[in-house]
Amino acid sequence: MKSVTYQLQPGAQLSGAIRVPGDKSISHRAVMLGSLAEGITEITGFLNGEDCLCTMQAFRAMGVRIEQISETLLKVQGVGLRGLKAPASALDLGNSGTSMRLMSGLMSGQNFATRLIGDESLSRRPMKRVIGPLTQMGARIESNEGRAPLHIHPVAGLQGISYASPVASAQVKSSVLLAGLYASGVTAVTEPEASRDHTERMLQSFGVKLDVRETYAAVQGGQSLKAARIEVPADISSASFFMLGAALVPGSEVLLRDVGVNPTRVGVIEILRRMGAEIEMQNPRAFGAEPVADIRVRGRVLTGIAIDKALVASAIDEFPAVFIAAACARGETVVTGAEELRVKESDRIQSMCDGLTALGISADAKPDGARITGGLIRGGTVDSKGDHRVAMSFAMAALRASAPIRILDCANVNTSFPGFAELAKSAGLKIQVS
Ligand code: S3P
Repeated sequence: MKSVTYQLQPGAQLSGAIRVPGDKSISHRAVMLGSLAEGITEITGFLNGEDCLCTMQAFRAMGVRIEQISETLLKVQGVGLRGLKAPASALDLGNSGTSMRLMSGLMSGQNFATRLIGDESLSRRPMKRVIGPLTQMGARIESNEGRAPLHIHPVAGLQGISYASPVASAQVKSSVLLAGLYASGVTAVTEPEASRDHTERMLQSFGVKLDVRETYAAVQGGQSLKAARIEVPADISSASFFMLGAALVPGSEVLLRDVGVNPTRVGVIEILRRMGAEIEMQNPRAFGAEPVADIRVRGRVLTGIAIDKALVASAIDEFPAVFIAAACARGETVVTGAEELRVKESDRIQSMCDGLTALGISADAKPDGARITGGLIRGGTVDSKGDHRVAMSFAMAALRASAPIRILDCANVNTSFPGFAELAKSAGLKIQVS
């Protein structure tokens, strides 16, 4: 892959109305469920990023006709729950943990074998968390000591289980529920905290009946899916970089349009508000089963806070942005209960603390979080470790830096946010890509 570097000049300010690309989690699920439905599913607002394109290619390789009419408009000719065909070769899921974990569940229910592979980062990430419960359901999965490549063999049938997940993970929950569509009886998952519930909401949009309570979801196997129209909201995780950028600089103001504000995803709003940012949700409405709003953010002086486990699941992908807010806040921010950050696209606790230290901020990594003392951000070079969200967060740090910042290894920004640099530039960030 071509190496991509961001070069940022300090001293800019963000402003204007911004529409970030479609939600990654919802785009993946729309392609998956549309493929398994009966009839034609139309998806608008699809995220044309590398991760979701991997999911699309994987379903095409299993015989699903998916027309990409424009970057963001897809027509999926569903083949029904039992209509997928054996792919000719391994399914390459690139950098995408969501594709691999959710598809592990779906592939476990097929009458053909599949091999799921991914890039270096994905091949380091833990897959035992899905292999365990899927094996309890009767699946047969070979792995490289709990990591990809995964070789999923066909089995005579899956059985429903009641699974108490040790981690709050929507990927684990979704993997098990999707396998549950192919299982006899009821498949139930309970989690320690509520993780994002897009799978449950979207299955219901496709006509599947579920029993859903706060940290519990259950599905009866064998239900068929009926094609639906899915309108994908703007991704709150992508919006969070602009929320951060506006929050960091007193006097700046941005409006983020059509942002998904599912209650299981809005932890970043709560955290930035507690730190002192002024955030208003305007024009609340729904895109199908998903709540949406326009979010106005005004910059204020930020103050450090304590963030514990209760807020981790609903802000899980926004911690790189939160770490930058902490570096720009008065006083100390202490994050605990966030050990899951260590097994994301990079070890995000380490990547963020290393980058902040390189910029002169005191940031102590802890096994389950970090202690960050706000201060003056110097210029310097940060290694994003190939992690899209680390790269975009440090780009916003330049708004408060005293000298230029260079960010290395940014090509993976295209996995979740194609066009990030151009959009950020149009909002006022002084960013060059080379
Ligand atoms: C996702 C769930 C989260 C999140 C990831 C997308 C999903 O992971 O970090 O980017 O689409 O289900 P976990 O559920 O494993 O925490």
